[in-house]
Amino acid sequence: MFGVYKHYGRKKALRDINLDIYEGEFVFVSGPSGAGKSTLLKLLYLGEVVSQGQILVDGVNLSRIFSKRIPFLRRKFGIVFQDYKLISSKTVFDNVALVLEAMGHKRRFIQKKVNSVLRSVGLEDRYNSYPLSLSGGEQQKIAVARAIIGDPKIILADEPTGSLDAKSANIIFELLKRFHRRGGTVIVATHDMELIRRNKGRIFYLDKGFI
Ligand SMILES: Nc1ncnc2c1ncn2[C@@H]1O[C@H](COP(=O)(O)OP(=O)(O)O)[C@@H](O)[C@H]1O
Ligand SMILES: [Mg+2]
Repeated sequence: MFGVYKHYGRKKALRDINLDIYEGEFVFVSGPSGAGKSTLLKLLYLGEVVSQGQILVDGVNLSRIFSKRIPFLRRKFGIVFQDYKLISSKTVFDNVALVLEAMGHKRRFIQKKVNSVLRSVGLEDRYNSYPLSLSGGEQQKIAVARAIIGDPKIILADEPTGSLDAKSANIIFELLKRFHRRGGTVIVATHDMELIRRNKGRIFYLDKGFI
């Protein structure tokens, strides 16, 4: 990321951000509420576009990317949000399967893969439940399952434990660490310094849009 600025109208959310994140790193983006953490994550998957400066993701310059390639860029990322963003009218199975359906995979492959990923997050007995019947910790596990099922290179997690009790937060972090141990890159935005202290990773500190 080189000389990146992001303005929302007259609001300056990020100012002159220069940083490199390497493949296989575990990184925290920290700083108080309003510092620009979520904005920084959004710029990476083109949820927002930069106002100035350049971002390279896996060698691809996001300012030069053709719109047809954006879905392929997004597949490099698995994204986890504080409020889970599950579809409440779909079962646990369907929420996770959706990613593979969008990629055009066959039904039988999807069935096997979803089963295996739900087992890996410890929710194999919840296939047919609906998200709102589950605890927050369970819903976030499903969100992590959905994030990893497409075999992304990078997980972006925006305050992933912000709505969870300490025990559930630890379980979610263990899942992120497992993804990291297998070679994945993890970028966690959080204002929770205690969470950062308890875990290992490189820390970028944002304040009022400055790094
Ligand atoms: N879509 C938006 N429109 C206008 N202002 C925004 C928008 N998104 C974020 N902001 C502002 O940009 C600043 C950084 O926001 P954000 O990236 O969400 O910070 P953080 O995640 O660190 O709390 C804040 O002042 C916020 O109010
Ligand atoms: Mg935020």
